[in-house]
Amino acid sequence: NGGGNGRQPHARARRVLMFPLPFQGHINPMLQLADVLHGRGLAVTILHYTGFRNTLDPALRPEFGFVAVPDGVPADVVASGNVVSMIVAMNTTMEASVAFRDVLAAELGLAGERMPRAACLFVDSSLFGAQKAAEELGLPTIALRTGSAACFNCILAYPMLHQNGYLPPEESQLDMPVKELPPLRVRDLFLSSRADHDMLSKFLAKATHAARSYSALVLNTFEALETDELEKIRDEIGIAMVLATGPLHRLSSKTEDTAGRSSNVLPHEDHTCIEWLDTQITGSVLYVSVGSLACMDSGELSEVAWGLANSGQPFLWVVRQDLVPGSDGPCLPKGFDDMVMGRGRVTPWAPQQEVLAHRAVGGFWTHNGWNSTLESVAEGCPMICRPQFADQMMNARYVDAVWGIGFELEGELERNKIGEAILKLMKGSEGEAMRKRAGELKKKVASCFESGGSSLLAINELIDHVSSL
Ligand code: UDX
Repeated sequence: NGGGNGRQPHARARRVLMFPLPFQGHINPMLQLADVLHGRGLAVTILHYTGFRNTLDPALRPEFGFVAVPDGVPADVVASGNVVSMIVAMNTTMEASVAFRDVLAAELGLAGERMPRAACLFVDSSLFGAQKAAEELGLPTIALRTGSAACFNCILAYPMLHQNGYLPPEESQLDMPVKELPPLRVRDLFLSSRADHDMLSKFLAKATHAARSYSALVLNTFEALETDELEKIRDEIGIAMVLATGPLHRLSSKTEDTAGRSSNVLPHEDHTCIEWLDTQITGSVLYVSVGSLACMDSGELSEVAWGLANSGQPFLWVVRQDLVPGSDGPCLPKGFDDMVMGRGRVTPWAPQQEVLAHRAVGGFWTHNGWNSTLESVAEGCPMICRPQFADQMMNARYVDAVWGIGFELEGELERNKIGEAILKLMKGSEGEAMRKRAGELKKKVASCFESGGSSLLAINELIDHVSSL
């Protein structure tokens, strides 16, 4: 389709193809961008992989077209849960076969009466294999980076980090400052397991190479948050248009046809926790979530449960069905419910943006995926940081050492330590100072979307650019 809102498809002069990476933390910002572009009069067709856990539910976005793309990722790689291996396999497939190019060619062939002409392909920056196919068909590509600007700088610096001996990281070096990328330490760099280091390095080198030929680069961050980091990218990358349009969820929620609507990624959200939040005292609730991929073992789950219970603080805890790998489902310790007695609420999946915006929520225990970090920044919510992999460590580092709106919970998860951290954030004077600084940042987010605000200008520039293609 591509029309929506009762309009015929051809009422929209141009169409954009959008291709997200099939993980929640990547699908969300791409769809938020899609909502914004659609709200500005562009028709949208989403190209998507279907064989992954967090699948899109096309029924929830009837105004978009959806086209399934073969992923070519072997079943054992999907089953392994190794995200880097999966993404490498997706790109290898796109580079080695014509299947993706055929999908694109078919979409381009629809231009005319039934569909507006496709102006460009928006692609997740991790799906760089798509760019080559688009180029062969003369279709310009615009990349969306769903991570921070600091993260992209770190990726651009990978060759230097190798050359200067920071990578691959030795255990003994982890606390060493990376003086070329302050305030990062070796432990904060974009890392996966040591076993995957070569694969990750090659993958990042290809992604960086591809980044230099995009027609524009869009980042889900905002100028006031990462001023220096954005400037560095602009100096380094050599493409004319580097746009900071974030936080995208804020912009998309202002779009007429999406305001108040659920995310269209499965699993569906449990909205009853909002009713529960309505009954809680303002600023009293700690929201706890580790996003869509991070996991813990059953011992850690138990320590978190008792830490939350013993803290005496109200909490809303997202316990995903697959939070404890290798189990039939997470099992909370015996006696936990009696101990908590209605002071806490556990849910398999929450409407996170709504939760963070709720007046009752006063703190966020997060794994610091970039979306969660940015959503917390946008609501002025201070954080307990418990990063696990990829960009999460550096996001946590910025939360702590640059923005001063949270602190890291380090070392083993242990109930007493957890209880202390919760009280520090929710009741202590340090937590109060972090909340105040977070409140200041929240104001800066709001000003990004006011008339003349940086993210609004960036979106306008992006729309003009797409219209010129
Ligand atoms: C992944 C990586 O882990 C992360 O490091 C990278 O920055 C993006 O990709 P994920 O782990 O899922 O993402 O974390 P995050 O980026 O925070 O995205 C999670 C998304 O799921 C957020 O938009 C959040 O609002 C949403 N969410 C999470 C819910 O809607 N409900 C929940 O209960 C939990």
